[in-house]
Amino acid sequence: MSGELRRLVDTIPDHSRKKEFDSEMGSFLQLFSRYQQERNKCPELNWDLIRVPDVVQLDCLNPSVNFTVLNQLAILKVNGGLGTSMGMTGAKSALTVKDDLTFLDLTIMQVKHLNETHHVDVPLVFMTSFNTEDDTLRIVRNYANQNVRITTFNQSRYPRIIQDTLLPSPRRADDDKKNWYPPGHGDLYNALLHSGVLDQLLEDGKEYLFVSNSDNLGATVDTRIMQYMIDEQIEFLMEVTGKTKADLQGGTLVDLNGSLCLLELGQVPPQHIEDFQSVRKFGIVNTNNLWINLRALKRIMDKGRMDLDIIVTPNATSDGQSVIQLETAAGAAIKYFENAHAVNVPRSRFLPVKNCSDLLLIKSGIYNIQNGQLVLDSNRMFNATPVIKLGEHFKNIHEFQRRFKQIPNIVDLDHLTVAGDVYFGRSVTLRGTVIVVAKDGQKIDVPDGTILENRLVSGNLLS
Ligand code: UTP
Repeated sequence: MSGELRRLVDTIPDHSRKKEFDSEMGSFLQLFSRYQQERNKCPELNWDLIRVPDVVQLDCLNPSVNFTVLNQLAILKVNGGLGTSMGMTGAKSALTVKDDLTFLDLTIMQVKHLNETHHVDVPLVFMTSFNTEDDTLRIVRNYANQNVRITTFNQSRYPRIIQDTLLPSPRRADDDKKNWYPPGHGDLYNALLHSGVLDQLLEDGKEYLFVSNSDNLGATVDTRIMQYMIDEQIEFLMEVTGKTKADLQGGTLVDLNGSLCLLELGQVPPQHIEDFQSVRKFGIVNTNNLWINLRALKRIMDKGRMDLDIIVTPNATSDGQSVIQLETAAGAAIKYFENAHAVNVPRSRFLPVKNCSDLLLIKSGIYNIQNGQLVLDSNRMFNATPVIKLGEHFKNIHEFQRRFKQIPNIVDLDHLTVAGDVYFGRSVTLRGTVIVVAKDGQKIDVPDGTILENRLVSGNLLS
């Protein structure tokens, strides 16, 4: 493998990038070698050592906060993901949420509002990848000279490895995008260091970094958490939230031999998966809202790299060939920090968009926008948001966009299931429990202006 990677480095057309690419391939080789060693050793997690950790509730934190501490904060959005589950080819965060405003626009509005309200200077940093950089820069450019300083840096680009031959899928350094991948948000720490952004933030007097997913508009700065970090001298804090059925794939926080660790589904021995997914035992999930002491991070990175748990992307393929794709998760870094804590936060701080059903909810009138934040519409009788299950036909973002002429009014909706070849017209209202199922070979058009209340529509064209 190392010879093949060396040959890849020699093919780089832009020689000014050779050193950087060489070091990237070096990091990849370390990850891949670790994967091979661990696979042979097959260390199985000792389930008996795992305990459910103590987690403080957000509401129990001291509400009295000195807002000037915000000057020590920087915000980082991880924004390099491929968005494969939604068939994305660019940044998920460049999708429009409302009024022509994308996730990126709304995030920038949130930080601008924070800075203006408290007269502070909190910079916003985006980690992009070769896949999302263009989209991100196009939007960020519109905010030059506004009340928010924006920095972007690129995460690593690793080669996909062909399963049968164990050779890199790319033949050349500038080979097509499909041969490469961004290796998960755990790459954040390496990328922050190698881009020079970590040093720059420290030089600018920033002590704390609030990290979250770029598609999570609920992840706004909560000053109580920052003050808690300062008061308790916490080096790493993970926001967790109560698990729901939608989170069965999500990672949970556990206490392993007295240290907090992130436990992902892929690490759980098969005989314990049911236990892992049960809400009764592991009732919390990682939101990926992480608060990090930057000096502690610098200390850890200066000592050497962090070997974060490897996540093997299941069933990864490229051009129909099985490939090996190894990733890491940002939350897994918790075990490297001293005095790590978790805070249990309300669901409103965790609104990730993993699929088009999540997107429908965010785009709908259930939420209004206030200073870039999503606020539940006051006409909604209940605090809980509706359960939405769009079928396979709506999986891809382009299909989703084609199948909804306009996002229906769902302010009074409890549950929506859509399966099969279904299209929604304009000004459609859905209330209560609505199920629309087009059988194989049939198509259902929900005409403009339709109101469906507690209805099952199956098989027939609506008229
Ligand atoms: P997701 O878990 O939603 O993954 O990312 P994804 O890559 O966007 O989508 P799939 O799994 O391919 O369908 C959570 C957050 O982490 C970022 C994403 O941009 C998103 O904000 N991320 C993910 C990175 O920054 N880099 C990565 O390599 C992967």
